Amino acid sequence: MDKIALGPKTLLYPMPTVLVGANVGGKPNYMTAAWCGMACMAPPMISVAISHVRHTLKGIEENKTFSINVPPVRELVKTDYVGITPGARVDKSKVFESFYGKLKTAPMVKECSVSLECKLFNTMDCGSHVLAVGEIMETYVDKPVVAGGAPDIKKVDPIIYSDGRYYRIGDFVADAYSAGKAYMKE
Ligand SMILES: Cc1cc2nc3c(=O)[nH]c(=O)nc-3n(C[C@H](O)[C@H](O)[C@H](O)COP(=O)(O)O)c2cc1C
Repeated sequence: MDKIALGPKTLLYPMPTVLVGANVGGKPNYMTAAWCGMACMAPPMISVAISHVRHTLKGIEENKTFSINVPPVRELVKTDYVGITPGARVDKSKVFESFYGKLKTAPMVKECSVSLECKLFNTMDCGSHVLAVGEIMETYVDKPVVAGGAPDIKKVDPIIYSDGRYYRIGDFVADAYSAGKAYMKE
């Protein structure tokens, strides 16, 4: 078998790059996260793995609300900055322009064309990280990125994270829930 066993690793391709927002002591704080993914369809839920030491986690526990924001490539420098700067030491509240939605306590990033406003559903202590699961209560999308009623991924221009490097989305290759039909005919 032409495989190499690397031992237990957190390898997954690709990973997103998102900004997790939470109010800490009444002030917005943002951190970068790559360990984020969908958790449930009905009701819509999202999960993010957050280290115990993160300032952002304090805010999530304090308010039981948070946001997940998808930064575009043009916001890469600030996105990386909040991922290398701890909010416990540095005030990051003005790095991005914040806005609030119906939950009132989950700060969201104006510069991101997609923002998910979440109510904390549950947390699971997995060891080094806490898995925070949030119910998505509202979705905010910039009008210019919407095409045919839904955001266009090329216009959202998300940042992909992999192995300590950032990438941009690639080419369209096929329609999902459809490409497999070619195999059925064989
Ligand atoms: C690309 C990237 C991805 C990251 N992903 C995560 C993550 O999924 N979970 C996590 O706890 N920290 C992650 N971090 C680290 C935090 O963003 C970083 O420690 C940040 O300074 C925490 O801010 P806070 O203490 O203000 O919450 C990531 C950092 C970068 C640059």
